[in-house]
Amino acid sequence: MSTPVESAPDTTAQDAHWWRQAAVYQIYPRSFSDSNGDGLGDLKGITSKVQYLKDLGVDAVWLSPFYPSALADGGYDVDDYRNVDPRLGTLEDFDEMAAALHAVGIKVIVDIVPNHTSNRHAWFQEALASPKGSAARRRYIFRDGLGENGELPPNEWTSIFGGPAWERVTEPDGTPGQWYFHLFAKEQPDLDWDNPEVHEDFLRTLRFWSDRGADGFRVDVAHALKKDMDAEVESLELLHRADLFRNGEHPLWDRDEVHTIYAEWRRLFNEYNPPRTAVAEAWVHADRRARYASPEGLGQAFNFDLLKADFDAEQFRTIISKNLAEAAATGASSTWVFSNHDVVRHATRYGLPKGSGREEGAGADGKDWLLEGGDPAQVDAERGLRRAKAATLLMLALPGSAYLYQGEELGLQEVGQIADEDRQDPTFFRNKGVEVGRDGCRVPLPWEPQGSSFGFGSNGSHLPQPAWFADYAVSVQAADAGSTLSFYRRALKLRHELQAAEALGWQDSVDDEVLHFVRPGGWHVVANFGTAPVVLPEGEVLLASAEVEGGKLPGEATAWVRVTG
Ligand code: NOJ
Repeated sequence: MSTPVESAPDTTAQDAHWWRQAAVYQIYPRSFSDSNGDGLGDLKGITSKVQYLKDLGVDAVWLSPFYPSALADGGYDVDDYRNVDPRLGTLEDFDEMAAALHAVGIKVIVDIVPNHTSNRHAWFQEALASPKGSAARRRYIFRDGLGENGELPPNEWTSIFGGPAWERVTEPDGTPGQWYFHLFAKEQPDLDWDNPEVHEDFLRTLRFWSDRGADGFRVDVAHALKKDMDAEVESLELLHRADLFRNGEHPLWDRDEVHTIYAEWRRLFNEYNPPRTAVAEAWVHADRRARYASPEGLGQAFNFDLLKADFDAEQFRTIISKNLAEAAATGASSTWVFSNHDVVRHATRYGLPKGSGREEGAGADGKDWLLEGGDPAQVDAERGLRRAKAATLLMLALPGSAYLYQGEELGLQEVGQIADEDRQDPTFFRNKGVEVGRDGCRVPLPWEPQGSSFGFGSNGSHLPQPAWFADYAVSVQAADAGSTLSFYRRALKLRHELQAAEALGWQDSVDDEVLHFVRPGGWHVVANFGTAPVVLPEGEVLLASAEVEGGKLPGEATAWVRVTG
């Protein structure tokens, strides 16, 4: 017996709700397109690819940070929130890019990094030059050290990127002084969100970009802003496990009071027409995600459940049902994501051998494989891509917004092998032997099959591209109807035509390894997680991630079928 279609109001027609069903494409600006041949992608490079984005069929782009930065953490160490890194362009370039994107109907989401500034930010420089207890220091988390001469850190807390979470400063008079707290790299001092000045400054930043045409914001580590620095921690192992806590009382993560900040932001967003949107990056317990996505808060939160799951029908079904029910109860819309700039690309994760993180590749996070040398020969790239396309086609059929990461539309694999001297990610340097870092998914895109940087720019690329990138080049794939790029283009186009309402009804399926649901208009979605072919419902096959023969869908594939009558 099939369950009835779960209905929610049709909001797609209203511009204020554009984000509810949007396909959002994440651009990592330094690695997208380089217009001036300095090896770094830039804003003009993005503007030059607006037609590409339009042809791809995305509704919005989210830009990872493009602000002035020493790149201690890929730009998540921001020197100045209301400016553009001169290597990436100017504010005028931003305006031009936003206008060009808007002209073709693509919205612009910018990344806001409120947990920490960079150590080069004017505020932090002022704090270093100011005495203990000064107003300038109170914007950050400065403490006296322990030990006879304050030579020991205030506590034993560790940074997410490895090593201590405290760094000692030299006082203006040259003596060893206080310590400041940094949840991430030491170049990323944490702000003190108990300080009203910090609130005011971020409101100013949000207004600045909203006035300049930003349609929304992605909020970096949204769950970390409020902290109880005096709390006792039961065990250091639990210090970074926000996902295990449900009571809002962890000293560093997901504290209940963080939502007062987002209520304040929401009031500002709603002053605009249409209201500005926001999506929280909050790696919290799944039961607490809805708080970030509330209409009185940010409105949406990333849901990383599918990203973390195995390629497994039951896991997918449970995650999808739970998240849709939650969204319906809270009035938010779900988000779905498989890849971003922090994780191994899903076409690679799904092709990893057993024992590379989790069972049977699938949801394996790939960290072990990277640590062991990231040998591409160990990856079943064909299978990885087959599963990735199946998973993506399933995701694009779900109600809610789909977040795509640059390069996944090319079926791009992770670059596992990067020489140590070429690596940039602080997790590699701070956590040697434990992590290799995230550079492998940040290698600049191949636009052409030849050239010094495969068409990324005219003069090399800041992270080396392997020779096999030629096979994934945009120009090659654009000319091939059977390519991954053509598949994404068709899927995104059809998604627009088909996605009329936020409703989904599960259908019984004959096989445990098969998921089957129907969307309004008789749009059936069948995803085969097993390896044996399955019979599809009778109707018009709109799109399939692998060739359908004799009405049968092969293993590890998804099909969209329109059933009429
Ligand atoms: C999350 C971002 O996605 C990641 O790239 C960054 O390193 C941390 N936040 C710190 O800002």
